[in-house]
Order: sequence, then structure tokens, then C-alpha cells
Amino acid sequence: GTRKREAFSGRSVFVFAAIGSAVGLGNIWRFPFVAYDNGGGAFLIPYLVALLSAGIPLLFFDYAIGHRFRGSAPLSFRRMNRFAEPVGWIQVLVAFVIAIYYGVILAWAACYAWFSVDMRWGETYEETSSFFAEEFLQAGSGFGLDFVPLITIVLVVVWVVTLGILIAGVQKGIGRTALFFIPLLVVLFAALVIRSLFLEGALDGLNTFFTPNWGVLSDPGVWIAAYGQIFFSLSVGFGIMITYSSYVKRKSNLTSSGLVVGFSNSAFEVLAGIGVFATLGFLVSSAAGAGWDDVSGGPGLAFIAFPALVSQMPGGPIWGVVFFICLILAGLTSMISIVEVVISSFQDKVGVSRTTAVLAVGVPMAVISVLLMPTETGLQNLDIMDKFANSIGIVGIALIALIVVMFALRLGPTLRDHLNSVSSFKVGPIWIICMAVVTPIVLAYALFGEIRSLISEPYEGYDAAVLGVWGWGMIAAILVLSVILSLLPWRGARHLDGPPAT
Ligand code: PHE
Ligand code: NA
Repeated sequence: GTRKREAFSGRSVFVFAAIGSAVGLGNIWRFPFVAYDNGGGAFLIPYLVALLSAGIPLLFFDYAIGHRFRGSAPLSFRRMNRFAEPVGWIQVLVAFVIAIYYGVILAWAACYAWFSVDMRWGETYEETSSFFAEEFLQAGSGFGLDFVPLITIVLVVVWVVTLGILIAGVQKGIGRTALFFIPLLVVLFAALVIRSLFLEGALDGLNTFFTPNWGVLSDPGVWIAAYGQIFFSLSVGFGIMITYSSYVKRKSNLTSSGLVVGFSNSAFEVLAGIGVFATLGFLVSSAAGAGWDDVSGGPGLAFIAFPALVSQMPGGPIWGVVFFICLILAGLTSMISIVEVVISSFQDKVGVSRTTAVLAVGVPMAVISVLLMPTETGLQNLDIMDKFANSIGIVGIALIALIVVMFALRLGPTLRDHLNSVSSFKVGPIWIICMAVVTPIVLAYALFGEIRSLISEPYEGYDAAVLGVWGWGMIAAILVLSVILSLLPWRGARHLDGPPAT
């Protein structure tokens, strides 16, 4: 095909889209607890080191690849070298898996925005907890196709909206959604955080959060947690930022954009930490019957602790609606970016229009998601896929990409020069050292530690057969499929060797 590559209309639209991808559920429910569990205020030091030594350098790395080679992840890697193409496909397949489960969390949030109005989940922590698992999710284990009707319907809507935005295109769909959602999210979330500071017990919560435990700085586990949070939170190393930067016009300041995206994401994270802990301080001091040991990050925070809080606080229903809308705004822009990784690679490989690509791959993804997630075993499936996709998938593919690009293909200097030729903030030897030495060592250490612990102890005690399919089986399938896909012919893209001329 001779299709012209789509583009964002300007650099600020790209920056908004990239912030939209980065700011997601990880900021709101993951960061506060990773920080709390790993030294509170003292965690900010390893976190800042991880941001500067790995997060922002990896953002630059992804931007340089997508912008120089002007393709989806597989096309960009193919243009580097014929044998590097599977690296891009692994990224696509990891994104595929994440998209399968990410959407259902949005569906839950939409249901809970609605439930906020009458607070049907009860008043105490115990009640909201059993409401979530039993009444709402009807959670069970094993294999099964017993659908929960409400969640199924809402998940279908989430997919229709996501695919509709993607059909609208890079600028009109992805760009405009981010331009509208991100400012709205900032305003609503800021209101929520400010409100939380005036709750009774807020100060206790903030003390609990920030009280530094300096002893943790000598614990390698804390440093790994900081790097893990940064990788997940910035969505770096697995295709999203490569895809988005391939839609950026030729002359565009890449590194300044990266700095804006990196620091905005972290600012949002710290803001969320403050809001979440001020709120939890109120919850623990209220009549909800929750202690600091009960509350944790992840779905439990948003769908158990927060509902209990909404039932206790003055004006609860309004703040409940605002909170769940924030989750939807933050999550939908991330969801869009994950699915776009897959759509864009299919378009490049097969040479079809955007609409055809969205229908040909987006609809099957939606079907798989709807078969696996709004069922009574959905929570179990989600938990396993999330664990393996993050601990092994994202970490592993970032490591592979760095080794292939920096060592096998020795493209570090090329990418550095590319960044410097368009950007005002220049990168030099420190960037190369971060990408070739520091980050690979941290990733390898984290990856092998995770694999060892997942082998020695079945994750969360789940059934071996279920872990075999949705965990290990999924990882194996990704590796095999990535090679098969790389052997298929390219029909959508020309100039397969080296960066395209214009
Ligand atoms: N970066 C997002 C967040 O912080 C999470 C995310 C993960 C987004 C994977 C896209 C892909 O929530
Ligand atoms: Na994030």
C-alpha cells in the first residue's frame, strides 16, 4: 500500500496523548501502596533515582526508535534488522494481553460510579468487601463461562467506546480524547485531593504515608520496587511510546516532550499518594471498621476501601461519582494506547485501512476479553494475567529490547544522534550508560527474581492448571507467536531496511 502515515497535529497533542497513556490506574492505586510498603517518605529517593536513571532514559529510547524508524513496534524493529522483528511482536502481544484485562477494570469503575448514587454496597468495610467479591463479581475459581450480566454489558460498552475512538484516528480519536480527558482529570482529581485534606484523620493518614523509614535504603527489594513502579507507570519498554512517537512530525523536540511526560506522571502519582492516604486516614478513624492492616493497593483500594469511605463521609455520593469518573478518565486513555499498539502493527503488516484494522483485530480482542473477564472466574483470570504480563512480560521485553538494540545491533549512538538532531535537551554518554548498563542490570535482577519466586511458589495459591494456561502458557504463546508473525510477509509498509527517507 501507499498509505501515508497518520500524525498528531502538533507536539502538544502528542504530549497529551503520552500523558494519557502514562497516567492510569497505576498512579491512583499502585503508587500509594508501593511507596507505603517500601519505606514511606524514604521511598521517594529510590523512586527519583529510578525515574532519572531508567524511566526518562527509556522514554527517550522508545521515542527515538518510533520517531526515527517511523513504524509500529514490529515495523520499527524490522527496519533496524530483519532478525529483530520478533522483539516488536513480543511487545505487541504483551499489549494484547494487557488490553484483554485492562478494560474490565474500567467496566467495574463505570458500575461503581453508578452504585455511588445509592451506596448499595453497605456501610462498613466488611460489607463493601463482601459486596465486591460476592454480590458484584460473584467471584469463583477454576475454568468457567458463567457470565455476570451487568459487567458483561458494561464491558461491551467499554470496548465499543475504545474501538470507536481508535477508528476516529490518531489525531481525531486518540489526540482529541487526550486533549479533553486529561485536563478534566486534573481538575476533578485536584478537587478530590483538596477535599480529602479537610477530612478528619487526614493528617494521621499523611503521617502514615510520609514517615520515612531510612533503613529501607539498604534493601535491594525496595530499589527493585522503585524501578518496577517506574516501568509500569511510564508505560515504557513495550511498544506504546514507540507507536505514539511514530506519529510525531519529523522536526519535533523529543527529549523535552519526554521530560514533560515523565515529570507530569510522577507529579500525578505523588498527588494521588497524598489524596489516597489522607482519605484512608479518615476511613481508619471512622466507623467503617477498617484498620491500616486491611487496606491495600489494587482493586481493593478502589472497590472496597473507597466505597466504605463514600458511605461514611459527608457528601459521599458526589465524591464517589467524581472518584470513579477519575478512574475511567485515567484508565480509558491508557486502554486506548494499549490497543493502538496492536492496531498499528496490524495496519503496517497487512496494509489495510484503520477502520478495517480496528474491526479485524479490535473485535476479536473484545470477544476474548468478554469471554474471559466478566465471568465468575474473571477476577482470578485478571489477577494471573496481570501478574505474568507485568512481572515477566513488561520487564522481560524491556530487557530484550535493550540488549538487542544496544548490544546486538549497536544502535545506541545512532539513537542518541537522532534525539540530539531534533531536540533542545541533549543526551550524551550518561544516557548510553543508563540504557546499556544500569537499566539492563536492574531489569535482569528483577526478572530472574520474579521467575524464581513464581516457580518455587504457585502465585497466590491458584490452581496449577489455571496458572499453566493464563500464566506460563500465555508467556510461551507470546514467544512462539512472535516468531511466527515475524515470518509473515509485509504488505502494508515499504522500505523495510533502515529508516524511511521521507
Ligand atoms: N502506565 C499506566 C498506569 O500507570 C499503566 C499502563 C500499563 C498503561 C500498561 C498502559 C499499559 O496506570
Ligand atoms: Na502512570
